[in-house]
Amino acid sequence: MTKTHDPIVFAVPGDLHLTEPGLENYRVAQWMVEELNNLIRPDFVQFIGDNVQDATEGQFRIFNEIREQLRAPHYALVGDHDIKDDPEANGFREHFAETYGSTSLRGFRFVRLNTQQAKPVGLNSSQVDWFRHELDAAASSDERVLVFQHNYPYQIWEDFSGPGIDEWRAIIQTQRINAFVCGHTHYWQVANDGRNVYVATRSIGDPEGGPPGYCIGYVHGEDLAFTYRSVQDVGPVVLITHPCDLLLATRPSHIVMGCDTIRVRIWANESVVDIRGSIDNSLSFPLISVGNGDWVAPLPGDQLEKGEHTLRVEVAVSTGENKRQEIQFMVDATGRYTAVPDARPRVMRTEFC
Ligand SMILES: [Fe+2]
Repeated sequence: MTKTHDPIVFAVPGDLHLTEPGLENYRVAQWMVEELNNLIRPDFVQFIGDNVQDATEGQFRIFNEIREQLRAPHYALVGDHDIKDDPEANGFREHFAETYGSTSLRGFRFVRLNTQQAKPVGLNSSQVDWFRHELDAAASSDERVLVFQHNYPYQIWEDFSGPGIDEWRAIIQTQRINAFVCGHTHYWQVANDGRNVYVATRSIGDPEGGPPGYCIGYVHGEDLAFTYRSVQDVGPVVLITHPCDLLLATRPSHIVMGCDTIRVRIWANESVVDIRGSIDNSLSFPLISVGNGDWVAPLPGDQLEKGEHTLRVEVAVSTGENKRQEIQFMVDATGRYTAVPDARPRVMRTEFC
């Protein structure tokens, strides 16, 4: 499969847990809407569940008022709080939409699962059959797949087991899925289990491990990149979109095998006055604009030793703010690669779950 389509950018607000206007989570949600409308301008927004706290009429109305301000298409998952005292998710359906579905966009199929068909987590047999069919259909259409689901399979202090979960595991071990994006944890974490990548978005309501915000995802062919934008961040957003961050690399197409190109996406309301990259703290070079917020520089992969390397990109904008991103990437001219399981940051306790 080749990159015949433009990149896709999506935003994933963390669990909102909305109750009433005027509280911190409501203010952060308003900030998020303003940033998405005027800075990120994503292709779509995926609410990751626990959109409201108690599934009341008033809370669903507040959620609708927020989401309706978004200029981008948007979708929502069911979280455990969205079906409080309503296991059939009737309130969610009435105020929003069906609880699972999929959308095809520019060579990708984005699958939304409802992992709350049983407590604490589960999928009924008809949804499992539908999931299997969606992945078969995506493969037939030559589409790559991303899965959004509320429950994160590696959340600490919870069991990721329940009806349909063994079947879910069997499906995801035999089908190619580019990433899973989840919520529920309230903390931010990226995990690579050696086969698949899982991203847990930090919550907007009751966040853990740092300030609230939203996740930005970028997919383009085999390129896959994520970053987290917090309410305390100001200035530009910097995202290295190629090469692939080693934590997100699951297959040989995610490593550097020779001469390549560094690609960086910048979202900025200010003009960029300087953007420089460096590899292993020694090679320093400028990047050049190729439009649409994308900046590039040659990646001399043929001159780098086999193994892990560090790429750092630093951006300065006209208001004086600086932002940087640093990733590790893998080089092997032979193209042989097997992912080593890892997760960052390490999380061993949580307050809310
Ligand atoms: Fe939550």
